[in-house]
Amino acid sequence: MSDTERVPLVVGVSGASGTPYAAAVLRGLLAAGAAVDLVVSRASRLTLLDETGVSFRDAHWREDLRAWLSRGADGAPDTFASEVGEWLDDGHRVRYHPAGDLAAGPSSGSYRTRGMVIVPASTACVAGVALGLSKDLLQRAASVTLKERRPLVVAVRETPLSGPTLRQLVALDEAGAVVLPVSPGFYAGADHIQDLVDFVAGRVLDAVGIPHDLYRRWRGQLGGGAARSQATNPR
Ligand SMILES: Cc1cc2nc3c(=O)[nH]c(=O)nc-3n(C[C@H](O)[C@H](O)[C@H](O)COP(=O)(O)O)c2cc1C
Repeated sequence: MSDTERVPLVVGVSGASGTPYAAAVLRGLLAAGAAVDLVVSRASRLTLLDETGVSFRDAHWREDLRAWLSRGADGAPDTFASEVGEWLDDGHRVRYHPAGDLAAGPSSGSYRTRGMVIVPASTACVAGVALGLSKDLLQRAASVTLKERRPLVVAVRETPLSGPTLRQLVALDEAGAVVLPVSPGFYAGADHIQDLVDFVAGRVLDAVGIPHDLYRRWRGQLGGGAARSQATNPR
């Protein structure tokens, strides 16, 4: 893939709980052959450290991303190591931009992208994007995505939701964003925590038209969720 052919999806990771959701979305995009521009907010380094033990460093981002994406939602360190290694060895697939780099490509509408997903999206990030604050590259890239009328998915993680956040989510919906709460459904069957994470990641990918097989789609028949669980866990 040459630089002129490369039209990435921007992935913003903000400081809400739920870094396994971001990892599953990133793996899904890379598995589908998509190019990714990654922006990791300052606060999300705290959630990443807390939830995975990975310190995300600008100078060692590829190595740290490899450790993060290799990890399963249950904490096993090498669940996805082989495929992640292959994807990250291809220098064109992922481009990383520090959140403080307001001169990076995604800060301008003339930089071509196919849209942006923010996963997980903190309420601070929701507020910033709803108001057009652009306090860092992540928020600026989201504002650019909206003004250019490109797809924006905001995978918000907070519970319960305050009135101000609910109003900001409505503002984002009215501006054209897809507001996608990270709330897994159980109808696809879930034996492991990874299944629930992948359900949400699959719905994020659905919203930007990326093919995947992260969850079992509804087939118009009741009982499928329970059947799958019993097949692998007869107790
Ligand atoms: C361990 C931890 C978990 C957090 N979880 C959430 C969360 O689930 N949802 C949320 O909106 N904020 C959460 N926060 C607070 C955000 O990190 C904080 O509002 C921050 O300013 C968000 O900045 P950002 O949007 O630039 O990443 C959490 C913070 C920490 C340290």
